[in-house]
Amino acid sequence: MSLSRSARLLLSCCFTLFISLSWLTAEAATPPHIVILATGGTIAGQGASSEQTTGYKAGVVGVDQLIQAVPELKHVANVSGEQVFNMASEDMSTSQIAALSARVNALLARSDVDGVVITHGTDTIEETAYYLDLTVNSEKPVVMTASMRPSTAISADGPMNLLEAVRVAANPNASGRGVMVVLNDRIGAARFVTKSNTTALDTFKAPEEGYMGRIVGPDVVFDYHPDRLHTTHSAFAGMTSSKQPNVIILSGYQDDPGFLFDAAIAQHVDGIVFAGPGAGSVSSRSREGMQRAIAKGITIVRTSRTGSGNTPTDPQLPGVVADSLNAPKARILLLLALQKTHDTNQLQTWFHTH
Ligand code: SIN
Repeated sequence: MSLSRSARLLLSCCFTLFISLSWLTAEAATPPHIVILATGGTIAGQGASSEQTTGYKAGVVGVDQLIQAVPELKHVANVSGEQVFNMASEDMSTSQIAALSARVNALLARSDVDGVVITHGTDTIEETAYYLDLTVNSEKPVVMTASMRPSTAISADGPMNLLEAVRVAANPNASGRGVMVVLNDRIGAARFVTKSNTTALDTFKAPEEGYMGRIVGPDVVFDYHPDRLHTTHSAFAGMTSSKQPNVIILSGYQDDPGFLFDAAIAQHVDGIVFAGPGAGSVSSRSREGMQRAIAKGITIVRTSRTGSGNTPTDPQLPGVVADSLNAPKARILLLLALQKTHDTNQLQTWFHTH
């Protein structure tokens, strides 16, 4: 049977349309490539029994096992894993987080990588998250996650946290928001979230600023962009360093001794973050200690031990103020900033803007 010319033309048009649509659908369906960098913590922890939720060993389970435990990841993204470290986060050093930042920057510079998820211990995740927030030189999503219960516990929170972190990293609206911390269905900004409870699952809070968004079933909901300089807009974007300054933290309390400042001077530290009571007040003993440290060229940053609120400037007191950063995060900003300058006006500007 021979077809008329117009029937052949119609068939050929339908065929071309079918091929184009199939190609477009395949393009649209290509899942994002998210790299999971594993560093240890409770999410990779193992206890002796399913009931053990304290005293277990953090940083045991490898990245492949973490990924295999969540087969649902493949519905969300094309994931690949890398084991960067496998350790408890209280042992994480500044040179290790600098190496992690370099790895994240190298991955995000690749056109075949759409985002990075980092698994980490909850104890110091806020420090690593803020370091990355200041040093990652990309708009692509960087999401950190963790868990409060080890992988062996009943109702372990790690698998769902990992799935939700990948959901956030794979979301088209996640770009340009700085480094995010995802646990317990919530999305926190690295600049603001802090661990607020020793053992509770909903430990990560931002008392003044709240969460940036949340995960509701399969949906990722964002409410705001953090209004602080981060990632590509940070003064420290892409920064790499072989030697980091030595910045320590001291705390103020009734009867606090000034000799801790002398110990810091003897150790040749570069900076001291002082977490004072209330709005960052300083006892007369610590004030004298600070003056001795400043006379030796040590930079002082004052913050509050209260856990929220801004530390106001005070002409009676020495040092730069940490804005609303808590002491561990103020230490992170100071150790990056001291690699560029010791000028206190510049340092103060950075503390008010980052
Ligand atoms: C750690 O920070 O490595 C241990 C604690 C945790 O992950 O919850």
